[in-house]
Amino acid sequence: MVPAAIPEELADPLTRTRERLGIFASAILWYPEVGSTNDVAGVLADRGADEGLVVVADRQTAGRGRLGRSWASPWCAGIYTSVVLRPSSQAASLLTIAGGVAVAEGIAAATGLAGAVKWPNDVHAGGRKLAGILAEGATRHVVLGIGINVRQAAYPADVAARATSIEAELGRRIDRGLVLAECLAALAVRYRQLQNGHGRLVVEAWRRRAAQMMGRRVEWESAGQLQTGTAESIDDDGSLVVKTESGACRIRSGEVRWL
Ligand code: BTN
Repeated sequence: MVPAAIPEELADPLTRTRERLGIFASAILWYPEVGSTNDVAGVLADRGADEGLVVVADRQTAGRGRLGRSWASPWCAGIYTSVVLRPSSQAASLLTIAGGVAVAEGIAAATGLAGAVKWPNDVHAGGRKLAGILAEGATRHVVLGIGINVRQAAYPADVAARATSIEAELGRRIDRGLVLAECLAALAVRYRQLQNGHGRLVVEAWRRRAAQMMGRRVEWESAGQLQTGTAESIDDDGSLVVKTESGACRIRSGEVRWL
């Protein structure tokens, strides 16, 4: 599949923020439609693409989320992008945390909307999901996929019922290209911090943006048993710390239901 010229709507803001895009400034490939941007970026990474390659599409026909779910990706309704990263093993463990922080920061910078991060990798606004991050790794690279809902109207009813979009929250038209550019700029900063051994800065930023989610009841399954507790914070390695009747529990991955 051959990438096309980036449409003006996206190209202008990317050009204006170019000096802040860091590792994402050099190669941005745009496609009108793909199955999944994570797949396109994964193939290019396998063929030796440099770290920092960005794949963006206006539409995905097989967009996917975590835990085998699909990710609705109607034409120009959201941002569907994936970046190729080659993190150190220490940085890799905090990648989705950094992604969530960066997307929340990018949305805030572009639109003024203050989203909250929700463990492990979501951004929420008004109690509904606004964006999600999907990290998929191979031996020598990680593809970090980002999906952000921008325009509510285009989403299928079931998605619209449990998710929100930037435009629905703010009630005005949003510059999709600026959101993309600011998210990439924020991710460049947070990723650099991870790679330079400053993961603590990323975790602290995550904790600040998660304040409204902490203290909430959560449930999850462990060894076939349903567990419940109160979310307290995240550890320095990105694990969710939950207070239970039998003490503090650390959840590294998997599904947590927020009650
Ligand atoms: C989730 O919250 O479950 C993660 C959603 C990730 C969606 C993005 S959209 C761009 C990239 N391509 C995909 O197929 N998925 C990610």
